Amino acid sequence: MLPKTKHPNEGDEDHLHFFADYEPPTDDFLADVISGLSRDQKSISPKYFYDQKGSALFDEICRTPEYYITRTELELLDRVLPDVANMTGPDAIVIEWGSGSSWKIRKVLDALETPAEYIAIDISREHLKAAAAEIGRQYPSVKVGAICADFLAPVHLPEAALVSQGRRLGFLPGSTIGNFEPPVAQEILQRAAGLLEPGGAFLIGTDLQKDEKILLAAYNDAGGVTEAFNLNLLERMKAELAAEVDLDAFAHEAIYNTDLNRIEMHLRATRSTTIRVGGKDFAFAPGETIHTENSHKFTIAGFQEIARKAGFDTSHFWTDERELFALHYLTLP
Ligand code: AVI
Repeated sequence: MLPKTKHPNEGDEDHLHFFADYEPPTDDFLADVISGLSRDQKSISPKYFYDQKGSALFDEICRTPEYYITRTELELLDRVLPDVANMTGPDAIVIEWGSGSSWKIRKVLDALETPAEYIAIDISREHLKAAAAEIGRQYPSVKVGAICADFLAPVHLPEAALVSQGRRLGFLPGSTIGNFEPPVAQEILQRAAGLLEPGGAFLIGTDLQKDEKILLAAYNDAGGVTEAFNLNLLERMKAELAAEVDLDAFAHEAIYNTDLNRIEMHLRATRSTTIRVGGKDFAFAPGETIHTENSHKFTIAGFQEIARKAGFDTSHFWTDERELFALHYLTLP
């Protein structure tokens, strides 16, 4: 599908060089909840965590003492960005997937030599425009564009984007890639490779396999922030779908699935209970769960294999001293 490309000229958009809208399908929360709760293993997609309250809770998770991922990645970025800048060279076109509030990108733009362009790709249209425009305001020498699309959309850079001959550098921080099943992660990387083109590079974060105790603590923080984040799904269902849910009948649970090397978050029914939503009843036996998220943990070799299958060379990676987290600099031959 061809996007609607506009040269924005009002408000926030003054600071955007272009805005391309792939018009990703809007979510149907009710239909997704009904189909998720109708499965043998009941489930709700983690994309529904991120309403305003959920996004704020996620930011709070990133500041809990147990959630080492954000802190470790920021320290690692400070250490490795001079190397990244050398390998990338001047006048880069930086493309960020799932850019959210676009705050980590500032470190990247500050480190690169005369970055020419920054292109943010995100599904959340208004948030994307505002966050990208803010970067445009702060970096007047960088041409900033925004593309509204989901991770799996086949995205092309509009003509207006192509003002630099510099290298294309993709950026996907955090451990977002770990929230997808490995075959989907590979597909996302493949799509990214298409956009980054031969000669391009991709700076991407992955959380690493480690002592289970560290992982379990990170997703079961003592302050209960992750618990509130998980339970917020039920609150959203009540508020937005007029669902009848007894919040006291569900408990947050994060376990490590050693066979699949992933943290799984669930909402576990502590007693028999029924959720009524969209005119349907969903009965829960005591102990039955709604599966709400997977967060895959990689080995370096395991992630490199996925990246190679997607077409990347994988020679450069860095980890922190405790080998909690890795940043990979993937390149396209
Ligand atoms: C967004 N994502 C990388 C987080 C993670 O660690 O998988 C989401 C999260 N879920 C619970 N805590 C944080």
